[in-house]
Amino acid sequence: MSPPPGDGTLPAPTLPSPPTLATVSEMARWSDDARARNQRIALVPTMGALHTGHLSLLEAARSRADRVVLSIFVNPTQFGPKEDFARYPRDLRADVQLAAPAGVDVVFAPTVAEMYPAGHQTTVRVEQLERAMCGPFRPGHFAGVASVVCKLFNIVRPDLAWFGEKDFQQLAVIRRMVRDLDLRVEVIGAPTVREADGLALSSRNRYLSADERARARGLPDGLFAARARFAAGERRAAELLTVAEALIHPAVDRLDYLELDDAETLQPVQGAITRPAVLAVAGFVGTTRLIDNVRLAPP
Ligand code: PAJ
Repeated sequence: MSPPPGDGTLPAPTLPSPPTLATVSEMARWSDDARARNQRIALVPTMGALHTGHLSLLEAARSRADRVVLSIFVNPTQFGPKEDFARYPRDLRADVQLAAPAGVDVVFAPTVAEMYPAGHQTTVRVEQLERAMCGPFRPGHFAGVASVVCKLFNIVRPDLAWFGEKDFQQLAVIRRMVRDLDLRVEVIGAPTVREADGLALSSRNRYLSADERARARGLPDGLFAARARFAAGERRAAELLTVAEALIHPAVDRLDYLELDDAETLQPVQGAITRPAVLAVAGFVGTTRLIDNVRLAPP
């Protein structure tokens, strides 16, 4: 046995990495096998570039399932022609190492050709919800998300699947798809994990320069200021939007939207909040598009 390092600490034990499967048939077989043993399967779909937000989903999944599947797939059909598909960060090896301590049992990391073989042409549309919020700014995005998540559900056939509330519209679209298509999976939303200054963790934060990163905190600052006003009793949508706007406006180079929407229909709140609502923002800091939201629910 080699002696411990000079400072007396023991080297960190290296956890064995979970196996990575790259084909639909291998993944399906793995799941069939787990199901045959009566194991509850949880799926956490991601595009990789894992951060603490993703890890929180994996840990939550671990606590409620026997087997945890992490999928890593940068899905081309949810990126617009001018978006960052080509430069989206990809490092499968680093991701698999990060996933090990979170208790992932298997990583599903298919290629684009595996997921979309020649002749592929079927799409899932969640017609009304996909038109709200980010819809007009990212045409085709939610059809791409719904379709790939539907495929992942059919390949893995999980009992449970975790998604972050940070992507509030995505979560709403997936819940609606599951209800509308009678998919047999329980969808669970998990709270947004944030940096110490409030910025929501995102794989895209790494695109920010130091100056942009400093400005980006204006997004959560604005949302939190409005939430504080709501907690103090303000219910008028226009007033709450003005409070958020004052801090968000200086932070962004271009605002896509700042909206106060009904949490279920994602339609703008008219007048005053009487039902659960979501205050959501999307905008560019430099060339990086950031989104964030807070829930405002009357007691
Ligand atoms: P990705 O952006 O990699 O996110 C994977 C999951 O992590 C999503 O459910 C997202 O909401 C969640 N997440 C991201 N940032 C988070 C944060 N700060 N706190 C908590 N959860 C967070 O979202 C996608 O990938 C894709 O659209 C996908 C669903 C995988 C379909 O391709």
